Amino acid sequence: DPQKMEKIVSLCKSKGFIYQSGELYGGLNGCWDYGPLGTELKRNLKEYWWRKNVQERDDILGMDGSILTHQAVLTASGHVGGFSDPMCDCLLSKARLRADQIDPQSGTAYHYTGASHEESGWSVERPFSVLLTDPNQDENKARKTAKEYYSQFLSDKQISPKKLSLQGETSSEEKDTTRYNPANGSLLTEPREFNLMFQTKMGASSDDSDPNAVAYLRPETAQTIFVQYKNVLDSSRVKLPFGIAQIGKAFRNEINPRNFTFRSREFEQMEIEYFCHPDDGLRLTDEWLEKRLCFYEEIGIPREKLHILDVPDGERAFYSEKTYDIEYEFPFGIQELEGVAYRTNYDLGVHQEHSKKTLEYFDEETKERFVPHVVEPSAGCDRTALALICEAYDVEDLTKDGGKKDERTVMRFKPCIAPIKAAILPLLKNKPELVEKAKEVKNLLQPFMNVFYDEAAAIGRRYRRQDEIGTPFCIAIDFQTLGEADEDGNDLTDTVTIRHRDSMEQERIAIKDLLPWLLERIR
Ligand code: GAP
Repeated sequence: DPQKMEKIVSLCKSKGFIYQSGELYGGLNGCWDYGPLGTELKRNLKEYWWRKNVQERDDILGMDGSILTHQAVLTASGHVGGFSDPMCDCLLSKARLRADQIDPQSGTAYHYTGASHEESGWSVERPFSVLLTDPNQDENKARKTAKEYYSQFLSDKQISPKKLSLQGETSSEEKDTTRYNPANGSLLTEPREFNLMFQTKMGASSDDSDPNAVAYLRPETAQTIFVQYKNVLDSSRVKLPFGIAQIGKAFRNEINPRNFTFRSREFEQMEIEYFCHPDDGLRLTDEWLEKRLCFYEEIGIPREKLHILDVPDGERAFYSEKTYDIEYEFPFGIQELEGVAYRTNYDLGVHQEHSKKTLEYFDEETKERFVPHVVEPSAGCDRTALALICEAYDVEDLTKDGGKKDERTVMRFKPCIAPIKAAILPLLKNKPELVEKAKEVKNLLQPFMNVFYDEAAAIGRRYRRQDEIGTPFCIAIDFQTLGEADEDGNDLTDTVTIRHRDSMEQERIAIKDLLPWLLERIR
């Protein structure tokens, strides 16, 4: 379905998973707010990650570092000097582009024009311009290429090309020679480096030369781990190999935030820095890759939708001896979810050098003294949440032969990830005994899991509403629950019907068995 992504974005908004930040005022580009269901989904993901990587392991400890980061930390790590992307300006639309968005073959770049914060944050119907980057390229030819690009794009998305015109072609902007410079035929400036960090001022000092007056919002959670490595080691007396795990916000002033939450300016990371002996680095990198692939499978992303990119020499960070990118088949293409990188002892090394404090480890057994190496599985929480949403989304055709068209939208989340674990539904709302019993069931489950009580509308409609938000189990309280015999004369007192989201099959369970039955399935 070429419009799958638009449908997902619209469902996310209408059901309360994800909204554009500051939407009331036109939107804050690259920032997103999670609604009630999205918040539960993300919490479930983070809790699952924490349970698997910290709670269930003896060799990994957690930490929660500050977001505001000392300038010296990020100077030592190389972020102040070099954490940047090459950027070009489009002189026609005044947009900023990442230089890697420019196609080196055709010499053209394309981008959406105008402000990019559409209500849904995802805009395909906007006109976009294709811009000349090669001063030697014939302008008319480039415009033709642009038109071809655009019509291909529209036909790929199955959007009927209403009126095909390129920005600048019919508008007065083309005539605006202050922005479009025909002298060199170029609409894009030369690439220049753009630092992606958000800088801020601390305290009341207005003196920029005061090193304590400038701080940064951390661009990755990793550096706060490296600079606390020694404190964690000393305070918990762990032995190598051991890891420090952290979940938290990171900030990057991305030039082009895009693809819904995929590339945002504020996002959460789930990172582990796993410290080890230099001889073990490469082996542990492979082991971590495998563990991380299993993790994605456990939360509902099938192995066949994951791709492993063994990042070749020259494309890895200069200090990394091995990097695997774990990629997922998003509806907008195969894109990175997580990086598993062997960072050698680069980070601890530079912090030791800059702070002039030793970060060496002394191995009591071998009497060896060295700066530990590190393997880093670094995942994006928002990206994984987006992958889970894309993977869960399904539209099932239930039309019976010759019958009316019947489709149901169903979010097939694994129960451990689903925002709501069970919906409690009295068959009818105007029967006080049914309502009372249903509320009893709700009170029984509510301390242990996120449940939802719903008595409005016909039961079939209520089931479909839960399917749309991915609730794996619906619990119906009916007259049999209250003691009425079923059509075969069976006594079903104090049992409920459980309706399964995926198969839509139903079974009966005694209320007294309900809690353990659910707990076993939602972990
Ligand atoms: N400490 C290593 C590190 O930060 P990275 O590849 O730059 O490595 C790790 O980021 C992960 O963080 C990515 O795989 C991605 O999941 C997530 N991430 C990075 N930039 C992001 C952005 N702008 N929006 C959302 N997630 C992002």
